[in-house]
Amino acid sequence: MITYKSKRDIEQMHKAGQLLANCHKEIKKIIKPGISTLEIDAFVERFLKEHGATPEQKGYQGYPFATCASVNDVICHGFPNKKKLKSGDIVTIDMVVKLNGWLADSAWSYTVGEVSEKARHLMEATEKSLYLGIEKAVIGNRIGDISHAIQQYAEGEGLSVVREFIGHGIGRVMHEDPQVPHAGTKGTGPLLKEGMVLTIEPMLNTGKRYVKIDNDGWTARTFDGSLSTQYEHTIAITKEGPLVLTAQ
Ligand code: MF3
Ligand code: CO
Repeated sequence: MITYKSKRDIEQMHKAGQLLANCHKEIKKIIKPGISTLEIDAFVERFLKEHGATPEQKGYQGYPFATCASVNDVICHGFPNKKKLKSGDIVTIDMVVKLNGWLADSAWSYTVGEVSEKARHLMEATEKSLYLGIEKAVIGNRIGDISHAIQQYAEGEGLSVVREFIGHGIGRVMHEDPQVPHAGTKGTGPLLKEGMVLTIEPMLNTGKRYVKIDNDGWTARTFDGSLSTQYEHTIAITKEGPLVLTAQ
């Protein structure tokens, strides 16, 4: 069931989103060779607490951390760990923030030190694909218009689109209808209406799109060991167009 949010609801979600955006800006400052993803996770938990918010992912379906930290070939849902990040790594930090009962969800990929040209291209193209998807998030379009815009651009850049993990409606709970695939056909799927709040969160790989899951039951990697990045925003469909609630 799709829940439609009022202007006031969207304002509340925007506050959660802005806090999340500020948290990402802080992460950008502290990510350097030598820091571990567990230290970043601890930083996030403290930052949210200090600002009256909580990390919604912690305990969600048994997920043990505040953030997902997905390094290099990890697509998503990587566990933060004690290993130090090193120059050349790329890492996606994903989190869901709860503030006054409302949620916002945003993932961002970061470089550690100097990264390869291939990694940089992947990151730039994944971020761009997110914004091309967001442009299609207007009243009267369909979900498939978002999916198609992302897939067309990504594949044109020689990258592949992960299918197993998709965007979603969000509000007081993390995963609501509708589903938001990152590959699909124009003019198909649910109609976009005022008051819908969605995540768009493309995961692109430099190699093939296929996924394998580690024994921890969560960590999703590229099957072929290629690099993967993800950028995610929470957006509201408004009369004025898409409003990016997690804009940094
Ligand atoms: N933020 C993610 C999403 O878009 C991941 C949630 S999985 C969790 O849905 F278990 F970590 F919460
Ligand atoms: Co999400």
